[in-house]
Amino acid sequence: MKVVEKIEELKQLIAQVKTAGKKIGFVPTMGALHAGHFSIIKAAREQTDFVVVSIFVNPAQFGPAEDIDKYPKTLDADTAGCEKLGVDIVFAPTVAGMYPSENLTWVNVEKLTEPLCGRNRPGHFRAVATVCAKLFNIVQPDIAFFGQKDAQQSIVIKQMVSDLNMPLEIIVCPTVREPDGLAMSSRNSYLDTEERKDAVLIYAALKEAELFITAGHRKSSELIGEMEKILKLSSRIKIEYISVLDSRTLEEIEQANGEVLVAIAVKLGQARLIDNIMLNI
Ligand code: PAF
Repeated sequence: MKVVEKIEELKQLIAQVKTAGKKIGFVPTMGALHAGHFSIIKAAREQTDFVVVSIFVNPAQFGPAEDIDKYPKTLDADTAGCEKLGVDIVFAPTVAGMYPSENLTWVNVEKLTEPLCGRNRPGHFRAVATVCAKLFNIVQPDIAFFGQKDAQQSIVIKQMVSDLNMPLEIIVCPTVREPDGLAMSSRNSYLDTEERKDAVLIYAALKEAELFITAGHRKSSELIGEMEKILKLSSRIKIEYISVLDSRTLEEIEQANGEVLVAIAVKLGQARLIDNIMLNI
């Protein structure tokens, strides 16, 4: 496995891989890799011939009051984990390498970036779409793999790839959870013991929504009310949003029917945590 910092070096290696006719799988990450990332990397390993994992904490996608300074950085452990899983290249560029001068070109995916995290993190998805477009141009993957936990991100990236005729496929891998249901996230490391206990309520609320729907309820306001009751069992949890949406358009729906995304974002201590479930009703 090679760890590559420079874009030019990576491009030369990718040219050789392309000449050899290999199918390239790409997993973009911000590092601090956990079991969720590793399951995505395994999917890339199984479905492609040559796997590139990028590790780049993209400053553009963090708001001024967000956690870029304390975002966990564990490059040695990350590269060791990648090596174990048979990754071919870890691409770990510097900020100056990725943004050598003021960036004047941005990819703005409309509508899909407005609700959910887009409402609370202005500019976030514009920066995510832009860095993914840059990474896709550099790595030239046949397939890029994302995680379902960041449901809105995956939907936005799929739309960008389709709208801009980018020559790659996007595969979204299932959310990996701790035994008690908490979705794996690099930001779980911010939780103290008490907050960690309360964090189980996020998935519990989503499961309650699923049960409520299975019992025949469809009204989104009632579903949201049920989820709110569960999250409010902890005074530490500050709800940012609970939404029931059409999973293709990300429009909020009054009745849960068809392909439905139920999504939650909360603040819990220093952590902002998101989770979701997709239901086919
Ligand atoms: O999900 C992430 O880790 C990031 O948003 C991504 C896709 C690597 C872009 O910086």
